[in-house]
Amino acid sequence: MLQIIKETADYLRGRIDEIPSTAIILGTGLGDLVDHMTDKTYIPYSEIPNFPISTVEGHSGNLIFGKLGDKKVIAMQGRFHYYEGYDMKQVTFPVRVFQALGVKTLFVSNAAGGMNKEFKVGDVMTITDHINLFPENPLRGRNYNELGTRFPAMTEAYDKNLIRMADEIAAEKGIRLMHGVYVGVTGPTFETPAEYEFFRVIGGDAVGMSTVPEVIVANHAGMRVYGISVITDLGGKDITEVPTHEEVQKAAGIAQPKCLEIMKELINRAV
Ligand code: HPA
Repeated sequence: MLQIIKETADYLRGRIDEIPSTAIILGTGLGDLVDHMTDKTYIPYSEIPNFPISTVEGHSGNLIFGKLGDKKVIAMQGRFHYYEGYDMKQVTFPVRVFQALGVKTLFVSNAAGGMNKEFKVGDVMTITDHINLFPENPLRGRNYNELGTRFPAMTEAYDKNLIRMADEIAAEKGIRLMHGVYVGVTGPTFETPAEYEFFRVIGGDAVGMSTVPEVIVANHAGMRVYGISVITDLGGKDITEVPTHEEVQKAAGIAQPKCLEIMKELINRAV
């Protein structure tokens, strides 16, 4: 595994002069961030040795090296979801490559269903913590001490300073930015009303099908993490609206400008 990660990192170092120390996983709701980047180099996943290839509609697969304002960043356009059939090592492989490249801060975004009764469709939510309900932990199996410790703490999986800075930025810009616990599940089914209710009762505010594996590995790797969810639909025992992929995409598109403003300014201030 270490050799495979190194091979991929070496390939990228051969293509890019100066490797950024910041990476962004562009989930649903943040795709347009790419339009705000300059000096871009696109590297399709298909050209990167050992990289899986993204399959799901609405996600293209490229690593994009460039600048956001005056900060150098790597953006991941399209992520690997567990529901697509990738195993946890594949889902989190890009984060391992970022680690090998010297990335210190990871920004992630996603679309999520809201269970918190104060949430509205189109809200944005800073992820303050998560509940891992995937059937597997990405760190299961042999631990490589070169990559991180066997039993990593997840007490502050999402960096408190970054959370505070995001709040300041949202207040300045007049954006309603919620806080919440993200529940990570496999999908690809959306939840039953009873499941949304269950996730709320156990302490969740939003539920989605990504992010948790990447954040676990980023923490193992010693990175600072900031995560943001776009609330694209609501679920619970009294809610009868049926979520669809199309509606999720549409709601994410509407919330995208808020997400973008926060993320751009946060990267500007924090790195
Ligand atoms: N559930 C799970 N994943 C999601 C949802 C949801 O309601 N909305 C967007 N991603």
